[in-house]
Amino acid sequence: MPDAFERMWADLAPVGRSAVSGGYFRQPFDAAERELAVWFEEQCGARGLRVERDDFGNVVGWWDVGSGPAVLTGSHLDSVLDGGAYDGPLGVVSALAAIDLLRSRGVVPSRPVGVSVFVEEEGSRFGLACLGSRLAAGAVSWESARSLRDRDGVALGDVVAGGSSALLSSVGTFVELHVEQGRDLVDRGAAIGVASEIWPHGRYRFDFGGAANHAGTTRMEDRRDPMLTYAMTALAANKQARLAGQRATFGRVAVEPNGTNAVPSRVTAWLDARCSTDEALTSLVEAVTTQAADRAGRDGTSLDVVAESVSGAVTFSPDLAAAVAADHEGGDWPIIPTAAGHDAGILSSAGIPTAMLFVRNPTGVSHSPEEHASTPDCLVGVSALADTLERLTR
Ligand code: GLV
Ligand code: MN
Ligand code: MN
Repeated sequence: MPDAFERMWADLAPVGRSAVSGGYFRQPFDAAERELAVWFEEQCGARGLRVERDDFGNVVGWWDVGSGPAVLTGSHLDSVLDGGAYDGPLGVVSALAAIDLLRSRGVVPSRPVGVSVFVEEEGSRFGLACLGSRLAAGAVSWESARSLRDRDGVALGDVVAGGSSALLSSVGTFVELHVEQGRDLVDRGAAIGVASEIWPHGRYRFDFGGAANHAGTTRMEDRRDPMLTYAMTALAANKQARLAGQRATFGRVAVEPNGTNAVPSRVTAWLDARCSTDEALTSLVEAVTTQAADRAGRDGTSLDVVAESVSGAVTFSPDLAAAVAADHEGGDWPIIPTAAGHDAGILSSAGIPTAMLFVRNPTGVSHSPEEHASTPDCLVGVSALADTLERLTR
């Protein structure tokens, strides 16, 4: 169904797009993301899919066919700040297009098929990655999530009613199609891959406290400058990750009062750390914290570290991955790991057999306007997802 995919993709293209960078700003419960949520329900309506919503903003469009445990497929419509077009929406649009393709093939699944959209996958607003799927799966309680606050101090409980979710109660299998966020498939010359595992990862808030003072009159030896402690910590994180063969990033910093001619009183910075094992993640964060604390001692600053979002290692069902990947025209699809987080990881950890399909990204870039997938590859993705749904609902 190339036409359906391309039409839907064109619908989404302008929504939340920055005219300056060409990237997307689709933060949860903001205007652009809500416009996409309305669009999704319209697309479900046009296909006769029954829309089921939970109290957290997650939605599933159900194709009520067959009986028994359902097969759910989908992704998310929110983006990181200045994100790419494909991370999330590709999985949602491909799921709708795959249903069109199955119907055009005359396939009548023996089990119900649902298309899901989980809210706040990126954690770009309330800080907890995969917030919607965690709430739906019961991996985080509403009592603890409702008080999460965005950068303006607005609480999650102020923008969504909260309560409960029955969206996953009938789900037997979940499949998420996603743009690849690295170059593995490019290097292999493959358009489609299947996920084996997700690296453990986490977000840690580092609060460095110091003393505001005049930039001109305060002697260098009299300062308690938290910017210095932060700067050394960012370098230490990079070095520790390189030494250990892991990943560490400080991508977000807030400075108070953020004036050019004053020593800052406070720097808050967020470490994103990702490692091949849970133990390696713990030891990387400990090593960075130890070095930051040592430096804080020398700078006369204070340090407070809080883990805001931690996602443990995920190993997808090897049998399911092998069944999805095997016996395709042109050969088996490669089975590859990823260091990016996904709702699929949350559902897998909640005990739902889960598989992921990746679509080749020629730039290998993600969380950036440079993220890309060619239209022919996207259409191969739709057909791969339709094949997978057909296999799983026979
Ligand atoms: C989500 O894309 C993440 O891995 O941060
Ligand atoms: Mn994503
Ligand atoms: Mn993402």
